[in-house]
Amino acid sequence: MSDIKYFIGDCRELLKNIPDNSVKLVVTSPPYNIGKPYGKYKDKIALNDWEDLLRSVTQEVVRVLTPDGSFFLNLSPVPYGNDKEILPLPFIGYQIFKDSGLFLRNMITWTFNNMQNCTNRLSGRYENILWGVKDIKNYVFNLDDIRIPYITKNDKRLEGGNGRNPTDVWYFDRVNNMTKKKLNLQHPTVYPLPMIERIIKMSSNPGDTILDPFVGSGTTLVAAKRLGRNAIGFELDENYIDEIEKRLKYENELIVKGDE
Ligand SMILES: C[S@@+](CC[C@H](N)C(=O)[O-])C[C@H]1O[C@@H](n2cnc3c(N)ncnc32)[C@H](O)[C@@H]1O
Repeated sequence: MSDIKYFIGDCRELLKNIPDNSVKLVVTSPPYNIGKPYGKYKDKIALNDWEDLLRSVTQEVVRVLTPDGSFFLNLSPVPYGNDKEILPLPFIGYQIFKDSGLFLRNMITWTFNNMQNCTNRLSGRYENILWGVKDIKNYVFNLDDIRIPYITKNDKRLEGGNGRNPTDVWYFDRVNNMTKKKLNLQHPTVYPLPMIERIIKMSSNPGDTILDPFVGSGTTLVAAKRLGRNAIGFELDENYIDEIEKRLKYENELIVKGDE
């Protein structure tokens, strides 16, 4: 049985309650400082404050991760800065990883469909997920659990094994978010559940603890529950408790019915 917990408050404070070396995997998507309508959190703060938030969270993440643990940080390549210096957010994330002692294992490109249609630059159709590890020689990577089934016999002859090795380019639908539609969730950035499930399968084992400091509508909690992991989520806005509870309740109903 998974132990799933969530707490309302500022993750910078709540993280202090997590013991050192106790979390196998941290997977999260912080706000991007682009003015998303989150409710309590104002997603347009001074750039230095945004960077400080990410830095202090990453430092705490490194402290709570087990020596073989991983941190997956999702950031959009939207321009960040002022007129003099414009950097994409993943670049800032990479710098923060480096300063915090994390090794970058992969920079995953998550591509998706989207409604956004820019007229002054190319329309965005990807984000990055930075995968950082504490120890470059010793970290959990369950390749067999995330192999992609072969489509033709030719694939098998070429590669051997029980399925393709996934690449660092992932497609997960964003517009047709099944969970969001089915449960009528109002959170503006509900993540694709199968994407978080892939990360959890890949970088943790059943019984491990997963943490999401910016848990939003609870996608990470639901994915962890499905996969028999324990999970802890933090969220600033108490209005999202309803969404988290609705999702976990629905998950329980699926388990009772035996319908996945
Ligand atoms: C990008 S959303 C996360 C969405 C989530 N991945 C999901 O699938 O629902 C970021 C969330 O972080 C929350 N947040 C912002 N600042 C926070 C803080 N200091 N501590 C905890 N949560 C915070 C926002 O309210 C928002 O719900």
